Amino acid sequence: MKAWQLSELGEPRDVLRWVDVPEPEAHAGTLRLRVDAVALNVSDLLLCRGVHQEKPPLPFTPGLEVSGTVLDGPRAGERVLACPGLPHGGLAERVAVAEASAFPIPDAMSATTAASLMITYQTGYVGLHTRSRLQPGEALLVHAGAGGVGSAAIQLGKAAGARVIATAGGPDEVEVCEQLGADVSIDYLAEDFVPVVKDLTEGRGADVIYDSVGGDVFDRSRTCIAFEGRILVVGFAGGRIAEAPTDHLIVENYSVLGLHWGLYRTQQPQVIPDTHAALMALWEQGSIDPLIGAELPLSEAPSALADLGDRGTIGKVVLVPTP
Ligand SMILES: NC(=O)c1ccc[n+]([C@@H]2O[C@H](COP(=O)([O-])OP(=O)(O)OC[C@H]3O[C@@H](n4cnc5c(N)ncnc54)[C@H](OP(=O)(O)O)[C@@H]3O)[C@@H](O)[C@H]2O)c1
Repeated sequence: MKAWQLSELGEPRDVLRWVDVPEPEAHAGTLRLRVDAVALNVSDLLLCRGVHQEKPPLPFTPGLEVSGTVLDGPRAGERVLACPGLPHGGLAERVAVAEASAFPIPDAMSATTAASLMITYQTGYVGLHTRSRLQPGEALLVHAGAGGVGSAAIQLGKAAGARVIATAGGPDEVEVCEQLGADVSIDYLAEDFVPVVKDLTEGRGADVIYDSVGGDVFDRSRTCIAFEGRILVVGFAGGRIAEAPTDHLIVENYSVLGLHWGLYRTQQPQVIPDTHAALMALWEQGSIDPLIGAELPLSEAPSALADLGDRGTIGKVVLVPTP
């Protein structure tokens, strides 16, 4: 079978090769899947460059979340979503996944939607509910609301009954945030979001800030966080890891919380299936529906990954095998 594989680290366009690889083996506790869709993540790009915290042995195949059809055994024919383990990721025709990490999906759900309902939505749900304890009626500020992580957080914040304020870089992205359900959207490249958030909250500030950008965006967020507010540090898409001065935390009485969703898989594994069940229920109710910015052939993996690093994508980018 074929898979995208890299034998040296670098930019995806330079190092990814579509090569013959051995078929995935079916062991006890694993499922072999035909890959129906792969959703891309910034982590895939960082893995190719060798700057992700996880450093799989070379050669490896990226692709952290897939939807697929079980090929054999008692679950043959079942459609699931799953997170393949590296070095054998999902940018391939077929993949083996741990049975415990493969979750059923509704018949009516497309493969593309299913592949997009794992990492960003699990991160958003755990981040907003478990870590931030977001309450109905609270003001939630979501940064980079048109991105993969941000678009999920807007929908999940609305589903949780929060008043959602979103930021995004550019008029098209701002419109996307509004279509996703944000009550107010701010172009943070064109204006300072801090006074807008303060105006909208009668000077209180946001109760929860969902920050996947970091850098200056995090620094400015510290000046519009409410009394007993929670800033959730999700990622550093902007490139700079910001500092959180502890004296300011005391003066303004707020919390800075870290979120690493992947750790729940080993530290509190039951969180993952519980969150999957909650997400499927929200999807069935029509409360969430992933924003698929691009659905591309699997053959375009190198350029699609490059676009993900260039601030050039909206929502999720999903690759599908060509027949
Ligand atoms: N903590 C966790 O468990 C967890 C889980 C998943 C992802 N993450 C992290 O979350 C971050 C966002 O992931 P994602 O999937 O949402 O990525 P994405 O789809 O590429 O979105 C990131 C957004 O960040 C904004 N941004 C601001 N400055 C940027 C810059 N200099 N370069 C690129 N983008 C910039 C862009 O929106 P605008 O142009 O509108 O500003 C972009 O759309 C990544 O750092 C990822 O590693 C963390």
